[in-house]
Formats: sequence, structure tokens, C-alpha cells
Amino acid sequence: MNEPLLKKIIDESILLELNISELYKIFNQAFPEDAYFWWELSEEEEAHAVLIRDTVRINVETFEVLAEMFSPTLSKLKEANEIIDGLIRKYGEKPPSREKVLNLALEIEHTSGEIQYQKFMSKKSDDLIVQLYQKLNKSEENHAARVKKYMAEHNIPVKKPNKM
Ligand SMILES: [Fe+2]
Ligand SMILES: [Fe+2]
Repeated sequence: MNEPLLKKIIDESILLELNISELYKIFNQAFPEDAYFWWELSEEEEAHAVLIRDTVRINVETFEVLAEMFSPTLSKLKEANEIIDGLIRKYGEKPPSREKVLNLALEIEHTSGEIQYQKFMSKKSDDLIVQLYQKLNKSEENHAARVKKYMAEHNIPVKKPNKM
């Protein structure tokens, strides 16, 4: 894999974090009863974007490691970004029900963890970027678990995922 392609992949994964953060900000505004919950998640997604940006900046010599792991993910990242971008537009105008957005968040957390970070999990590495993505994977798993717990506490049923 060449450097420009890798840069595109990194940019898409940063964009995905920022898009998810923005979507959660919409939910933060739209649902006062859940405002804190969405605010916290939104801030954490933004922090993920910064973390990716900074780690890549200080560790640019690891292109080969990344190339091997990232090669199939660009199209999936782009697709996820397009979907979430569409949701930001749609729900920015009129958010759906509370039940729908919580189920959506659950799906987003599973999906983003899977497409971006799953590949890194089995790899033992001293590489900073590999370690970063392992950390992010754990963090998305934790988000999914938190959304699920929040739904259970508020008696909101978990629906089958419908591809966002
Ligand atoms: Fe994230
Ligand atoms: Fe997340």
C-alpha cells in the first residue's frame, strides 16, 4: 500500500469519529432527558479523533504495519461515513424517537469498532499505532456496552440491527 492511500484511510477513520460525535451532539440537543449521556459519548468520540490524529503524526514510519491491516477497510469506512453523514442531515432537521436513536447508537458502536479496529486485536505489537487502535477497539466495545446498559435502565427494547 502506498502512502497517499494510507493517508486516506487514516483521514476516513478520523472523519468517522467526528461524524459519530456530531450525530450524538444532535441527540444531546434533541433529548433533554438523555442530554448528559449523549454529551459524554460525543466528547469521547471527539477525543478518539484527536488521538488518531496525534498518534499518526508522531509515528509516521509504521506505514507497512498499517498497510497490511488496513487494506480492506477503506471502502467500508467510506460507506459508514456516507451513512452517518446522511443521518446527520436527516436527524439534524428532525430526530426520530428516543428508542430509535438509542438502537441506532448501539449499531453504530458495534459497526465502527468492527470496521476500524477489529483487525488489530490479535496482533501483539510495540507499534504505537497498533496499540492505539487496540485501545480504540476496547473503547467502542465499552460504548456499545454503555448504550445497552442505559437502554436496559430506561426500559428501552433492543431491536434487531437494520444496517443503520
Ligand atoms: Fe470512537
Ligand atoms: Fe464509540
